Amino acid sequence: MNILILGGGGREHSLAWAVLQNPKCDRLVVAPGNAGIAAIADCAALNIEDPGQVVDFVHAESIDFVIIGPEAPLAAGVADRLREAGVLVFGPSKAAAQLEASKAFTKQICDAAGAPTAAYGHFTDAEAAKAHVTAQGVPIVVKADGLAAGKGVIIAETIAQAHAAIDDMFGGAFGGAGAEVVIEEFMQGEEASFFVLCDGTNVLPIGTAQDHKRVGAGDTGPNTGGMGAYTPAPVLTDTIAARALDEIIKPTMAEMERRGTPYQGVLYAGLMIENGAPRLVEYNVRFGDPECQVLMMRLGAQALDLMQATAEGRLAEAQVNWAQDHAITVVMAANGYPGAYENGAVIQGLEALPDDPDHIVFHAGTTEKDGQITASGGRVLNVTARGATLQHAAERAYDMVNKIDFPDGFYRSDIGWRALK
Ligand code: AMP
Ligand code: GLY
Repeated sequence: MNILILGGGGREHSLAWAVLQNPKCDRLVVAPGNAGIAAIADCAALNIEDPGQVVDFVHAESIDFVIIGPEAPLAAGVADRLREAGVLVFGPSKAAAQLEASKAFTKQICDAAGAPTAAYGHFTDAEAAKAHVTAQGVPIVVKADGLAAGKGVIIAETIAQAHAAIDDMFGGAFGGAGAEVVIEEFMQGEEASFFVLCDGTNVLPIGTAQDHKRVGAGDTGPNTGGMGAYTPAPVLTDTIAARALDEIIKPTMAEMERRGTPYQGVLYAGLMIENGAPRLVEYNVRFGDPECQVLMMRLGAQALDLMQATAEGRLAEAQVNWAQDHAITVVMAANGYPGAYENGAVIQGLEALPDDPDHIVFHAGTTEKDGQITASGGRVLNVTARGATLQHAAERAYDMVNKIDFPDGFYRSDIGWRALK
């Protein structure tokens, strides 16, 4: 099977690594890829948000199966165009990708499905939004409706902060994403992520994880794309996971099917858990990054079979064989991230690290220059390890981190603290 993966971050490096473990894979191309991916697969310079370009490439290269990593190509309708062209594809249609691309859409689906989530109001003008905030009181959550690269969510502690966020959003601070605003009740509890595959009808859970969105130790400082993650997430017990499936995820998938826009791909449910009850924070229509890295580490070769079964509508007969172990990933980022940062620093010490099924450094933002690996993104490396316990996995990961020489980089030294405490 000739396989094309779209994307070029740590998530796609881990997908590429897992796919290559599977003997079904004859040839793997990743577009655009990065320096770490280029060491294991062919990379192609493609505009992955241009459906026509992707379809032409697939035909020219005799690709049999396309796996879409990030949300932007999904929101751009790349999966739709590939399906129209008769190509097997892992990833939801543009209509189904609305579950991530529009917060108001997701809220309406939750209402229709009876799925527990934060109470909300949906606004298209600032005055009405501000009046709602004043009536509800704080803390309160103000969200730009559209895709804002994880930045369109403000948790306001004062009415003044909430009003300022509303003015920013309607003032265009998030571009088109802020033309509509959703205001939500602030939910207390512990967050965890639940990953399921869905083939339009059938749902198959493939793992739980927790990430660390804040940049600083102890979960402080500005939000990032994620500074580290681990799987499984102990807070998502089997009982709570079963409730999340029955009360939130399956009703959502049934509602999508009922509307004629069945969901096919991986669904990432961000959950808030309080007193044993899960509520939905948000859906993402793709694997989390860096959650994917820890999931792939534990799934290995079967990830390809599962994604193929999803794309072919055969999940009813699929099953996951879990190793009874833990995986963790520590993100090494460029100094300054998530604000402005410099690129181009040379990273050393990678060759000397162990590289086996228990230790892998996935590349998130790297470029090869004159035979050297250089930083070319905010999040640069995902240092990933497995172990019989989370503690063991964390020791392995941090041993590797300590051997990597990335003078312009930083990392959090407390990844996994909630589960380790
Ligand atoms: P989102 O982009 O919707 O994932 O929001 C980003 C982060 O904001 C989430 O991961 C939560 O930590 C937090 N958040 C979003 N909505 C709420 C809410 N209604 N109550 C509490 N925290 C929230
Ligand atoms: N790590 C969070 C995300 O991928 O959205």
